[in-house]
Amino acid sequence: MEKHSLKEEIESRRTFAIISHPDAGKTTMTEKLLYFGGAIRDAGTVKGKKTGKYATSDWMAIEKQRGISVTSSVMQFDYNDVRINILDTPGHQDFSEDTYRTLMAVDSAVMIIDSAKGIEEQTLKLFKVCRMRGIPIFTFINKLDRQGRTPLELLAELEEVLGIESYPMNWPIGMGKEFYGIYDRYHKRVEQFRVEDQERFLELDETGDIIGDYPIKETSLYQQVLEEVLLLDEAGNEFSEEKIQSGKLTPVFFGSALTNFGVQTFLESYLDFAPAPQPRQSIDGPVEPATEQFSGFIFKIQANMNPAHRDRIAFLRICSGQFERGMNVTLARTEKPIKLSQSTQFLADDRSTVNSAVSGDIIGLYDTGTYQIGDTLFAGKQKIQYERLPQFTPELFVRVTPKNVMKQKSYHKGIQQLVQEGAIQLYRTFRTEDYILGAVGQLQFEVFEHRMKNEYNSDVIMESMGTKIARWIENDKIDESLSSSRSMLVKDRYDNPLFLFENEFALRWFQDKNPAIKLSNPMDDH
Ligand code: G4P
Repeated sequence: MEKHSLKEEIESRRTFAIISHPDAGKTTMTEKLLYFGGAIRDAGTVKGKKTGKYATSDWMAIEKQRGISVTSSVMQFDYNDVRINILDTPGHQDFSEDTYRTLMAVDSAVMIIDSAKGIEEQTLKLFKVCRMRGIPIFTFINKLDRQGRTPLELLAELEEVLGIESYPMNWPIGMGKEFYGIYDRYHKRVEQFRVEDQERFLELDETGDIIGDYPIKETSLYQQVLEEVLLLDEAGNEFSEEKIQSGKLTPVFFGSALTNFGVQTFLESYLDFAPAPQPRQSIDGPVEPATEQFSGFIFKIQANMNPAHRDRIAFLRICSGQFERGMNVTLARTEKPIKLSQSTQFLADDRSTVNSAVSGDIIGLYDTGTYQIGDTLFAGKQKIQYERLPQFTPELFVRVTPKNVMKQKSYHKGIQQLVQEGAIQLYRTFRTEDYILGAVGQLQFEVFEHRMKNEYNSDVIMESMGTKIARWIENDKIDESLSSSRSMLVKDRYDNPLFLFENEFALRWFQDKNPAIKLSNPMDDH
């Protein structure tokens, strides 16, 4: 890729995350995208769980240590002169605040939905974070080679459950055994499934019908699609690039990642509408990505669980200027200078040292305890400080105490540091000041326990409290007598009071009984 100016370099960047529920096809999709980008040679190498062949970039397989891997948190590849960064958002038990924070570092998101399952729990959670940021969301409805729900049902669900308008860029012709392909409204062609390459794309005439004689035209499914498309044209949402850019409308694509069908069409359409790196809000106003001065913020710190490598990696999203290896920067929080000589970038199959990167790119910095989540780094004299990352509402809670009461000092030090780093959230009960930890995923507790032992030499006892619904209290005065086992009053680390409700029922009951108390959820505030 040869570019002439910093601005052109930056404009060629597209940085996104794939949001989906486990098993919807994120890994398969990523693998195909990397394949098109030439980052892997064989589009069957990312995933190798069952074959035992470890993939070039299996999210989790390489360096697997209790589900933690640093190798593929970021993948980069070039396609049609665009440099694409895909950020991983782990699922399953690996789901954590990091997953949410990763969405703070992208300019758009790709949402993959299993056509048989529709919107699932984790997709919904991740979607909410994207919506909070107002970033563009592109939807890929996957597994059309299998029997699934009808496309109209799926679109209705998108609108009802997610509350986002949708615009189908293409429309499936059948599904499962009778899947013939997609009617591509955007490229004005039909893309046929399971045909020889020369018949893959069939052009449409101005009435929207296929030009020429092809067997597909005779099928009732194709005739039905013509009717449905007409219906979409007349009664569906209007295409609006502006609404896509503000995250109000999602372009929807259908396909089958496994059979590599519709993926390239998706990628090319995505690149037509996905935004280049956007300005980022600092406390002194927005910072333009093409500003010469280098700056960025840390959105994720990955502790390597392998005791043989005690290093941690801090992931920095570049927000302005250009990174050069060995450059001198300042850590905004402490105003201390740092030389960025140890940096790494994770390409599909190896850790390669990055020499230069620009706004939109992600670099990994070796960290020996210097960085915290949300830290800003900047070059030059003028201080840049990005806004604090939002607090995410935890759902899982544990009570924590030290195993050895004689070791209070290392226990408190460990907790304070890990909380500051953003690894976990800490709450305290009123009066007794008992420690309660909150997380969005179980893995956060495991990492916490492991790091307390290994880094702070402190064994902890963690007693599960299960899931709770956390709601902050907006009123100035709080009545401590309202605290009960079903609605427990605690303070967060900034001393803000909140209730931990046992379940939805307890929350509603409490609200009915105490209408004067204003409860809020930070995830809903935006
Ligand atoms: P994830 O990363 O979102 O968890 O999903 P992943 O890509 O691992 O896909 C989950 C399962 O769904 C895999 O099957 C995968 O092969 C299958 N899959 C993905 N895309 C499609 C598709 O377009 N059509 C069909 N029919 N299946 C698809 P598995 O048997 O669970 O895994 P494995 O065979 O790879 O071990």
